[in-house]
Amino acid sequence: MLQETAVDYATLERQLRSLIADEPDPLANTANFVGLLYNALPEVNWLGVYVLRGEELVLGPFQGKPACVRLPLGRGVCGSAAAARRTLRVPDVREFPGHIACDPVSLSELVVPLVVGERVLGVLDIDSPRTERFGEEDQAGVERLCAAFVDDLSTKIADGFI
Ligand code: SME
Repeated sequence: MLQETAVDYATLERQLRSLIADEPDPLANTANFVGLLYNALPEVNWLGVYVLRGEELVLGPFQGKPACVRLPLGRGVCGSAAAARRTLRVPDVREFPGHIACDPVSLSELVVPLVVGERVLGVLDIDSPRTERFGEEDQAGVERLCAAFVDDLSTKIADGFI
């Protein structure tokens, strides 16, 4: 049965691919990826990309309130996901050791690393004001979108991500 918050990720993937296919600029495409997804997901108060620069994740295109600019690799949800190169789905951020609270309103979080080959480019971070907002379907759907995004991006990056 579809949950109340179910999202049509297959349609979103088609929309994403057509939004970014003909544009060579990674920054413009990242901004549109974030804008598309933020407006498609209910109960989300912040959604954006952090770009890995050295040992830090630096704030990139996002939708929502102004956020923490630099996050250390290996700490918090974003830094842990980037260091481990795997998705972190956190049902209640108050129970995640080392969680970095940019906005106390955010209660659950989904972070998907953006990886090309061996290289971590950054992460996509999604925050919700509701605990347990993100289910397995969301994780699979967002991972699929990130894979499509990175697949396209990998053909367009030269020296850096953004
Ligand atoms: N909560 C994140 C920090 C980023 S903000 O949520 C936008 C973390 O623990 O890494």
